[in-house]
Amino acid sequence: MTITQDIISKTESLLVKTYNAQPVVLDYGDGVYAYDTDGKKYLDFAAGIAVASLGHAHPAILKTINEQTARMMICQASYATKEKLEAAELLIEHSCFDLVYFSNSGTESVEASLKCARKWAYENKGPHCNEIIAFHNSFHGRTYGSASVTEKRNSQPYFEPYLPGVHFAHFNDIESVKELISKKTAAIIIEPVQGEGGLTPANTAFLIALRALCDEHNICLIFDEVQAGFGRLGTLHAYEAFGVEPDIAAWAKGMGSGFPVGAMAAKKPFADAITVGTHGTTYGGNPLACAVTATVMKELMKKGFMDNVQKTSSLLFEGLEKIQRESNKITEIKGKGLMIGVNTPFDIKNLLSALQENGLMATQAGKATLRLTPPLVLNENQAQEALDIIEKTLKEMDE
Ligand SMILES: Cc1ncc(COP(=O)(O)O)c(C=O)c1O
Repeated sequence: MTITQDIISKTESLLVKTYNAQPVVLDYGDGVYAYDTDGKKYLDFAAGIAVASLGHAHPAILKTINEQTARMMICQASYATKEKLEAAELLIEHSCFDLVYFSNSGTESVEASLKCARKWAYENKGPHCNEIIAFHNSFHGRTYGSASVTEKRNSQPYFEPYLPGVHFAHFNDIESVKELISKKTAAIIIEPVQGEGGLTPANTAFLIALRALCDEHNICLIFDEVQAGFGRLGTLHAYEAFGVEPDIAAWAKGMGSGFPVGAMAAKKPFADAITVGTHGTTYGGNPLACAVTATVMKELMKKGFMDNVQKTSSLLFEGLEKIQRESNKITEIKGKGLMIGVNTPFDIKNLLSALQENGLMATQAGKATLRLTPPLVLNENQAQEALDIIEKTLKEMDE
């Protein structure tokens, strides 16, 4: 048994089996590359599933974490700190929202959003108004509230009972939403680009119609931007890529570029529903997470940052389309920005291991979609390097 196999099997023997173990042991990362313990280099197009927005070991993040850790990592959540103020100011000034609540993960941001919307509806429309509309193929997290609005609940009966009053409409089908709306509808929750479901972007016209429907019926519109936010679509926030403002947004992943942090941001009438004692979390808004958030925000807002995301996104889409035209080995290309999905005739598990063998780490989304979510600091040469690996791998898969 090699040292690598030994580490993997010992780790496996100690962990609850939430994931299938990868055959490599990761050691460290540098920019858009990750290295395993055998010294093999990979282009990291998994990036922790759309998390490492600034890549690995970004100098600004290292500086912030080193300095802030030496100053103060944690304080009780009721204290103001300069770091909390700076992060909150940056998030509010550069979004359509009025107030922010800090959490530690995507699922916590979704939980906060659902609770905020439900309390707003309870107070403004009455206790009967407690139902949520979500979408087929959605993914919002794994705690009970977020799992309840995730379609997978239908295939996981062992966790029942879920939150009652959740209905699933068809993504990009406004009529299916209209059919589910009633006096009991408190909120609609949607991913502007479905991530886990298979990299499906919402149509702009659909989101505009959804916004209008929510306005007409006084329903809270929640965008789950956990995967699509913080530059991933080539705009700071996902809603900006569609020109449609939600009432509440759930954020995480790229917001900390690897440091665990998330947030719910809301417009004032909705945010005001959360009052002292109705929600909170021990680590939310801690000085270290806020310092990192502020650093990530400043990097994302640097001149040219989003241009680079758009440029490398176009390069990847064009390159994939070229491979599709020339090889017939790609059946569909979908997604938006640097959140790209590729369908092929090949078994997705085999494709992922072949790509990894050839030096590109990626992930699966939906039933069989190859998901490419590289760090947003990817440059054109690195994008081309990824395309070359994908082309070579697809070619080998056929042989
Ligand atoms: C759209 C969306 N919402 C929520 C989550 C849950 O985030 P976390 O795993 O940080 O709880 C995810 C995670 O993949 C996600 O993609």
